This record gives sequence, C-alpha cells and structure tokens, in this order.
Amino acid sequence: MKASVVANKDYTISKIDDRVYGAFLEHLGRAIYEGIYEPDHPTADKDGMRGDVADLVKKLDVPFVRYPGGNFVSAYNWEDGIGPRENRPTRLDLAWHTSESNAVGIHEFADWCATVNTEMMLAVNLGSRGVDEARNFLEYVNHPGGSYWSDLRIKNGRKEPWNVKLWCLGNEMDGPWQVGHKDADEYGKLAANTARAMRMFDKNLELIVCGSSNADMPSYPDWERIVLEHTYEHVDHISLHMYFANRDDNTPNFLGLAEKLDTYIETVAATIRQVKSKKRSKKDVTISFDEWNVWYHSNKKDREILDGNGGWPHAPGLLEDMYNFEDVLMVGLILNTFIRRSDVVKIACIAQLVNVIAPIMTEKGGPAWAQTIYYPYYFASVYGRGTALQLVTTSPTYETPHSAETKFVDVSGVHNEDEGVLTFFLVNRNPSETVETSVSLQGFNGVEVIDHQVMTHPNLKAINTSAKQNEVAPRKGEGAKLANGNLSVSLPPYSYQMVRVRLG
Ligand code: AHR
Repeated sequence: MKASVVANKDYTISKIDDRVYGAFLEHLGRAIYEGIYEPDHPTADKDGMRGDVADLVKKLDVPFVRYPGGNFVSAYNWEDGIGPRENRPTRLDLAWHTSESNAVGIHEFADWCATVNTEMMLAVNLGSRGVDEARNFLEYVNHPGGSYWSDLRIKNGRKEPWNVKLWCLGNEMDGPWQVGHKDADEYGKLAANTARAMRMFDKNLELIVCGSSNADMPSYPDWERIVLEHTYEHVDHISLHMYFANRDDNTPNFLGLAEKLDTYIETVAATIRQVKSKKRSKKDVTISFDEWNVWYHSNKKDREILDGNGGWPHAPGLLEDMYNFEDVLMVGLILNTFIRRSDVVKIACIAQLVNVIAPIMTEKGGPAWAQTIYYPYYFASVYGRGTALQLVTTSPTYETPHSAETKFVDVSGVHNEDEGVLTFFLVNRNPSETVETSVSLQGFNGVEVIDHQVMTHPNLKAINTSAKQNEVAPRKGEGAKLANGNLSVSLPPYSYQMVRVRLG
C-alpha cells in the first residue's frame, strides 16, 4: 500500500502556540498526593515533592499546568489550602466522593511548577461560588502587596506575586454532574460578570470560558453560541474537552475518533465565527482544548468510590488508566489534529499529568515510570514547535461511524525555522499492511534525516508496568531516506513514527 504527502514551504496553517502542549493536574485520586507530593518518598525534596516525578515532567517541557480542577474546583475553597498546614481543614470533595486534606494548596503547587519549569493556569470556582471568590483569589495570586489578600500571601511566605496570566472561568458548567451546574444563559451571565471584574483588576489576563464538556452533550453546540453571546467581548478562549474510549474493542473505529475530534473543533470554530459576525466584533476568540486524553480503562474499577460506596477516602487510586500500545496511536492522532488545527486551537492540556488518566504513573514509596502515551506526547511537545504545514496527504481510506473516508495514514508536519528542521509525525491506522509513504519536500532543501523514532508492538494491549517499564517504548527507526527532494518512509501496520529532517 502507498501514500503520498506534499509539504510545501509556502503552504502553512499557523504558528503553533507552544501552549498546545500543556497539561492538567487536579485534586483527584493520587494526582497530587502520591503523585507529585509524597513527603516520605526516597526522592522527595525539602517540600515533599517527588524528585523522580519531577524529572519525568521536566523532560516533557510542559509549558503550563492547569490547576486545581476539573470537577473538583466547582466546590473548592482555595483559602483552605493556604497558611500553616496544621490549621488547614479537611473537607469532603463532592466531585469525587473523597476527603481533601488541603496539605497542598496554591503555594505548594506554585513552588512545584517552578521546580519543573512550568507556568500555572488557574481555574476559579463558578459552581458553588462566584465573582467575589474569583476577584479575591486573583488578588491573592497576582497583586504585589498593600491589600488584604496580597498581604496575606506575603505573610504566608510568598513575597512576589505569581502573575498568572491564564484563568479558567469555572469548569464544565454544562454538566449536570458539576456542583453548581447552570444552563447556558445563567453561566454565560456569571462568566461575563466574573470576566469583567477580573479585567478591572488586569485587562491583560487571558480568560477561558467553558464550552461543552464533550461533543455528545445535549446542549452542544447551542451552549457555545449562547455562552459566547454573553461573553464574546470579555474572554479570549473557549474551552473544549474530549475523552476517547475503545469500549467495544474495535480498534479501527477507536482510531477513527480523531475525525470526530476534528469535526468538534470545526463546529466550535464556526460557532465562534458566527458570534463574531453577529456582534460585529473585531476581536478573535480561540479554542482552549484544556482536557483531552484516552479515558475508559479504569471506569469499572472506579464505580464503587464514585457511587459513594467507598466512604470518603483521602487520595484513593481513581481514574488510573493503564495505557496500552493502541492508546499511543490515538494520542498521536489527537496531537496531529491539534497541530493541523493550530489556526484555532491555541491552548490544550493533556488530562492529566500524573496517576490520574496520565502519562506518568507512580507507586507509593516505589518507582515512577512513563506510561505508553508518554512518548507521543513527549515527541510532540519537544519537537512539534514551529509552524504547522498545510500538508496534502493522499492515502487509502476506510470507513468508521465517524467518517466514510478515514485515511489510513495520518500526518502532521512542523517547520521549525529557528532550528532549520522539518518534523513529521506519522500514524499508520492500517491493521495489516505496511504503507510506503513518500513526502515531496517543495521549497525545502532537505539535507539529512537527523532523527527517526518508531513505535510498534505485536500486542495492541501491551502496557508498561512498574516491573516492565519499557515494554512499550520508542526505538530508533531505520530506512527513512532523502533523495531528490523526496523523503521516503515505510510505515508498518499500526505504527507511530517521528521523522526529523535538517534543512540546508
Ligand atoms: O479529568 C477528569 C475530569 O474530567 C475532570 O475533573 C472534569 O473536568 C472532566 O469531566
């Protein structure tokens, strides 16, 4: 089987916003406790943060981490997590039916972000709270001093403001599972009022309003239109979330979900354009895809606690999906979609980062390791920075419920002009055939292939465990060739690859 790709230097989509490689950490399960924070762990630093986890996070070059939720934020009092630890209250977390000790709050999280070289994206609680909480939290986090909340921050040990720029106006407010769930008009008005107040403090904040929780919500896509009609002039991004599942064990259909993702993005982009014209607005709103990942492996196991039959445990194992090789392909396809839609998707967060539906897993007192999906995320984040190319890909197709013509070969291309490098991320969705793929480089002087990474595995369900941490891992590829302005690469069945070409 054959496929061809044209990569022309003049046909570009957009500069990729680095923030498309962001991540998310919620007070949920063992993400924070036993994830990033475990004071008794042999690798813990003076603040009780695990060094082994920090090392794995640093390698990913994560531009920012969204915090503290998620569903958790909709009943969270951020004030519970400040001041001396011994005075912090234990609260019931209604979202996940657990207890929250508040041993980690904004100070500890901010210090951890500095350790792993990342920034914070914060969410305010628009579920059980509203404008007042948002303005106070903002003042605590970003005001230099001389006011009640900023002086309290200084008293609590942090002199300089954190100057957080990215703020989410609540989380998934369209979902009936959300504490303080609202309809689109109610939420739109509250979000607009909150945004106005926050901008009175600092007009340069970047504000993210909640879009739909997923493309199957009954209120989608009217939700986006109504919410934007209330908030268009006051916000910068609208958030989308999507989780991918292979519940009926049908790999071709599972991998075809990337088409549904593309349609979701296109529909919301069209809704943004509609509201923009209706408002005769000069400004743009873009998409913050601030929760995405594969999520289904752990659903059954989690039922007892989520149904409230497990009491109110502190940091139980929840949403601990063990990712397999098939998920590598899915994550590669999702990231390819974001690169191709970099004209409108400016922010995105893999959900989440540690233990909870995450690329990094830990054992209490034991090792931390990279799950299978760590690798496509790593390659995209580290090497997928630059300008997205408008590739023309011709490939044999197959049919799924999401599209009549799903290409077996899915490719994204990134031109990093500063480094003089072209990077291609390729996924072969064909279950049984190798696809010989030829990439015609037009206007580029390809000199040599400087890196070629391949992920394949005979068992789609293979996973990495603490005992077998490298069962699914990339290996150096062979046989990618440059000749006469053409890059040729062989894609084995069900494979993920990255090829990097140095330009002259
Ligand atoms: O990431 C897990 C949960 O998924 C988040 O808390 C919520 O926003 C979404 O439903």
